Amino acid sequence: MAERALLERHLRLPRVLLAGCGTGREIPFLLELGAHLTALDWEPAMIGCVRRRFRRRGVRLVTGDVCELPALFGEAAFDSIVALGLVSGGLFLDPRSRHRALVAIKGSLAEGGVALLDFLLSPGRRGKVKRFSLSLGGGRKADGCCYWPSRGEVARALSRAGFEASFWPLSFCAEEPRIAAICWPRRARSRWVRIRRAVPG
Ligand SMILES: C[S@@+](CC[C@H](N)C(=O)[O-])C[C@H]1O[C@@H](n2cnc3c(N)ncnc32)[C@H](O)[C@@H]1O
Repeated sequence: MAERALLERHLRLPRVLLAGCGTGREIPFLLELGAHLTALDWEPAMIGCVRRRFRRRGVRLVTGDVCELPALFGEAAFDSIVALGLVSGGLFLDPRSRHRALVAIKGSLAEGGVALLDFLLSPGRRGKVKRFSLSLGGGRKADGCCYWPSRGEVARALSRAGFEASFWPLSFCAEEPRIAAICWPRRARSRWVRIRRAVPG
């Protein structure tokens, strides 16, 4: 399914956080859907780029780490959190940062809120580290790596962070298998309360 159709169907409005916004690819569409949008990235250069592109569109811009969401915005601040191309990258490589990011995303969702996340997917049972080299022009290069988890790993990481999730194959980029996860914070189980009847003496 295409990314736009998923967003259109599952986004909860109005308070939307675009986490790991990069250059703001998703911003025009989210605004079209009626989002009151906050865009976050930890790279000041990305936030600078989004500022230049969307200066007049009323998007709130914040430079910061997704793992620090509740500290940045307070608990339950958003109806939806959209994080595309974010969690699968370096964050997923380290189980602790992956868990911190997912718990932070969950803590920032309001009652009834949803997170829309995507994951590059290893076709096998095990995750794969993919190394890449980007050409920055002028003979400069940047080396990086990202992690393609297995589907089971994604499901376990989401469940451990306290989410219920549904998965869709995502036709975003032909040569990269992806899934989208629509995640709801799992509701706290109601506790069993035992009531002892007083036995008449
Ligand atoms: C692959 S880009 C995706 C950009 C955009 N969402 C898209 O799909 O086109 C990932 C972005 O996430 C940002 N990022 C990675 N880790 C982050 C973190 N822990 N907190 C905030 N931003 C992060 C990167 O700086 C980068 O701009």
